[in-house]
Amino acid sequence: MKYYLFLFTNVLFLFNSACSPRHEGTGENTIFASTNKELESAALKVIETKCSSCHGLNAFSGGVGNLTSIEYLLKSNLIVPGNSTQGRLIQTIEEGSMPTNGTTVTDLELNIIKNWIDNGFTVIGGTVPPNIINPTIPNPNITGSPLQVDALTIIQKQCSGCHGSPSNGAGNVSDILNVKHLLESGLVVPGNTKQGRFMGSIYDGTMPKSQFLTPSEITTLEKWITTDIDPNAQVILPPTEVVKPTYSSIAKLILEPKCVICHGPSHAADGIRVATYAYLLGTMGGKRTVTIGNAIESKLYKSVKSKEMPPQSDGYVALDLTESNAIRDWINAGALNN
Ligand code: HEC
Ligand code: HEC
Ligand code: HEC
Repeated sequence: MKYYLFLFTNVLFLFNSACSPRHEGTGENTIFASTNKELESAALKVIETKCSSCHGLNAFSGGVGNLTSIEYLLKSNLIVPGNSTQGRLIQTIEEGSMPTNGTTVTDLELNIIKNWIDNGFTVIGGTVPPNIINPTIPNPNITGSPLQVDALTIIQKQCSGCHGSPSNGAGNVSDILNVKHLLESGLVVPGNTKQGRFMGSIYDGTMPKSQFLTPSEITTLEKWITTDIDPNAQVILPPTEVVKPTYSSIAKLILEPKCVICHGPSHAADGIRVATYAYLLGTMGGKRTVTIGNAIESKLYKSVKSKEMPPQSDGYVALDLTESNAIRDWINAGALNN
């Protein structure tokens, strides 16, 4: 019902004003309505916080009107539905000329606006321009409010490396980006950050293992849990990076997150450190764990291939084949500092 009402008011407005946006290039009039409320409200929230102090109901800097009015955005061609590369709204942000008051629009916020422009509109009159393929299907990458996206982005960065797997996460905590699962398993108790081991493990400093969350990351997670956790939010984030047989890739995706906590600068279990290239080759003290060109003779490879490391008795999950093969191939190819 709401949907029809909304569409109807838009149609009414556009016909009354007799001023539909001209789609550049085709010379034909196309009438659009913003029909995806979810994408719309997320985008307008960003515009409201970042732009409306100067381009809002009571402010018209540079002669620009109220940027939270969809009718105005369309009428003035500040946005071109279906094509976020056109229109001054996005262009001024991308050029860095707006906003002018020293604040910036983050990449995430910019994507929220673009996602709405690209996927939030439906053609309700005139001719369909070629760049509108299926405007009613929203981008699957982001559904949910910006807060859902912010919170899940933090969880992906800080927790999913060890708890992201659907069934095989460290310490039996799996599928951590699935909000429904977080709620059903009691790891998160909506409205209450003092309950549930998700926040508990962060507060008592045991998680994430090798680093801490920043205060602003903690505040975002708290705000998410207390005000607006949406079990249906789906944030299909960019696929996690696949490890390559190079030192930098192995260090970033395996050694730093999974080994350095026990074999790092401050703690060297068994006299072994793996925090730098020099440590691995034994040129900086500690035991050498890499024999150049010979993976089978290298303790680094043997320890992960045998699944002895990282220790499953401490709740860690053994490396998968792609990971251990990357270590093998890197060593066999000469263990370069690449
Ligand atoms: C602190 C005030 C301020 C804020 C915040 C601000 N603007 Fe502006 N904006 C101005 C002023 C002043 C002008 C006119 C001067 C100019 O053109 O550089 C302007 C002009 C514009 C123009 C027309 C000029 C052009 O280059 O096309 C657009 C479009 C625009 N702003 C978009 C935005 C958007 C989008 C945001 C939010 C992301 C924003 N502005 C935030 C002050 C502001
Ligand atoms: C480097 C790997 C790693 C990262 C990153 C990591 N964890 Fe863990 N987590 C573990 C391991 C290993 C265990 C099991 C052993 C233990 O409890 O120390 C565990 C156990 C847990 C447990 C169950 C035990 C308890 O304390 O209740 C929770 C909950 C948890 N992690 C939450 C998180 C959260 C939330 C994050 C992100 C902020 C995170 N973890 C990041 C490795 C990790
Ligand atoms: C929770 C702490 C912990 C983590 C995490 C961990 N290790 Fe260990 N590691 C140990 C301890 C303790 C020993 C010595 C006793 C043993 O073998 O269990 C050891 C021993 C080793 C050895 C020597 C084994 C041998 O045969 O001489 C290697 C090599 C090693 N670890 C590599 C790694 C690598 C690579 C990782 C990450 C993929 C890793 N470890 C993660 C605690 C850890």
